[in-house]
Amino acid sequence: MILNRIGLSILVLVFISSCGDAPMEQMAPGAENEQASTNDPESEQIAGRWYSNDQVVLGTEVFAENCAECHGASAEGIVEDWRQRLDDGSFPPPPLNGSAHAWHHPTSMLLQVINNGGEVYGGKMPPFADILEDSEKLAAIAFFQSFWSDEIYAQWEQMGGTN
Ligand code: HEC
Repeated sequence: MILNRIGLSILVLVFISSCGDAPMEQMAPGAENEQASTNDPESEQIAGRWYSNDQVVLGTEVFAENCAECHGASAEGIVEDWRQRLDDGSFPPPPLNGSAHAWHHPTSMLLQVINNGGEVYGGKMPPFADILEDSEKLAAIAFFQSFWSDEIYAQWEQMGGTN
C-alpha cells in the first residue's frame, strides 16, 4: 500500500513537472530570437528614445572605461557642486545624468564636446575625437541619457534633441 502511494506520487510529480516543462520548451525559440535581436541596434529601440538597448549596453562599457573617472559611474558626477569653479579657475566635470545641463545641448553639440573636450576652452575634459569610434561616442550619449527622466528627455528634444 505504502509503496503504491509513493509510486503514485512519483507518477503525479513526473506528470506535473513534465506539464510544467512544456510551456518552457515552447518559449525557448522566442527567447532565442530575443537574444539574436540584441545584436541589431535598430531592432530594440527603447520606447520614446532615439537609441536602442544595444547602444546603452555598448555605452555602459565605453563610459566605464573613458568617462566614469570624471563623470561618475552612473554619470552622477563626482563633486558636490559642479557649478563651483576649482582653484585653477576651471569647472569640475558636471553630472551627465540629467541633473546638470547636458540636456541643453543637441546631439551635435554633445558630440562636439566629446570630440574636442574642454581643454580648448581652458577646461579639463580631454578630446576623444581620435580615441573613440563615432558609434562609441553615440553609445556613451545613449548611456548617460538612459538616466534622464522622460521629462528631461522631452525638454532636450525641444532644445534640438538629435539635431
Ligand atoms: C579628465 C576628466 C574627464 C573625462 C575623462 C571626461 N570628461 Fe566630460 N567633462 C569634463 C569636464 C571638466 C567638463 C566641463 C568642461 C571642461 O572643463 O572641460 C566636461 C564636460 C562634458 C560634457 C558637457 C556637459 C554639459 O553639461 O555641458 C559632456 C557631454 C561630457 N563631458 C561627456 C563626456 C564623455 C561622454 C566622456 C567619455 C567619453 C567624458 N566626458 C570624459 C571632464 C571629463
